[in-house]
Amino acid sequence: METKLLKADEKSIELACALLNSGEVVGVPTETVYGLAGDARNDSTIEKIFKAKGRPADNPLIVHIANIEMLDGLVSSVSEDAKKLAKAFWPGPLTIIMPKGKLVSNSVTAGLDSVGIRMPSNKIAQQIILRSGVPFAAPSANISGKPSPTTAADVYEDMNTKIPLIIDGGTCEAGVESTVISVLEKNPIILRPGVITASDIEKVLNKKVEIAKAILEDVKSNEKVLSPGMKYKHYAPNANITIIDSSLEKFSDFVKNHKNNNTFVLCFEGEESLFDLPAVTFGKINDPKAQAHELFSALRKLDELGAKTVFARAPQKSGISLAVFNRLIRSAGFKIIKL
Ligand code: TXA
Ligand code: MG
Repeated sequence: METKLLKADEKSIELACALLNSGEVVGVPTETVYGLAGDARNDSTIEKIFKAKGRPADNPLIVHIANIEMLDGLVSSVSEDAKKLAKAFWPGPLTIIMPKGKLVSNSVTAGLDSVGIRMPSNKIAQQIILRSGVPFAAPSANISGKPSPTTAADVYEDMNTKIPLIIDGGTCEAGVESTVISVLEKNPIILRPGVITASDIEKVLNKKVEIAKAILEDVKSNEKVLSPGMKYKHYAPNANITIIDSSLEKFSDFVKNHKNNNTFVLCFEGEESLFDLPAVTFGKINDPKAQAHELFSALRKLDELGAKTVFARAPQKSGISLAVFNRLIRSAGFKIIKL
């Protein structure tokens, strides 16, 4: 199949809407990462999404809406907490897990009786939903297991020949996927961290928000998890990444003694000159937003440069940095050395 890569404008958005209405899958920008969008109500479309990504069938997708009225039929009820969260954070990078409604294909939710919904703030995504009238399911538009795409070129690299159209809306603002929160349990629980943090949510709900254990730890393959996505290897470039959790000085000594052919460092901006190894950066040490914005493109760049071994600096484990740490530790297959 020929894959068109078109700048977002009237005509290309029109084409995206027509394709969505005819059951096709389209690469679209959102404020978090690019998504692989298809009608959440259409079983055979959802099958195409899973196939294009090579995604395990038991990992559910998120459904995207453009206004609150669209929730009707997608969910079977909206709790008070869900209402408060939607009012405070939509449109924006928060996915709320709610009881599934009848309209949503069972393949979207991988058979679960809950569904993740979010209202993106990206104007192009909003227009596509409004004009097509299609609530679209959209996982990140990468091949399963690879870093999520933050530019249309990244999507093209992974999806060329697999889908008919990619809409280019520039670089994604956040750079990491939405925060996923479940309000189905007794206490609200964050299943995936993002740029909307636990403390942002606590302020709105006025209650303690839990953080799922699997965000920071590896999940055993036989363990039951609240969010199936957490048990899979993720965000991994071809290179073998190890996180070194230490001071900059100890990190520098470590890489000096462990360098090999094609060894790279993945460090914070401004630290590059301290190493006699090639370096790729992901934002300044005290700028978690920039780290989130740049992490996935840094991981893809390491592949482009042919990195085989990568030693990475460790982000903080709180606030927005928790989202960065969560993605990086998965991309490293949980290899972390504390010095
Ligand atoms: O920012 C985002 O959320 C992006 C953009 C495109 O909107 N989408 C995205 O989708 O990241 P995906 O499929 O790559 O990640 C969805 C995550 C997975 O970890 C999945 O397990 C979890 O959300 N999830 C989806 N539905 C769920 C449900 N009903 N219960 C628990 N977890 C769910
Ligand atoms: Mg993904």
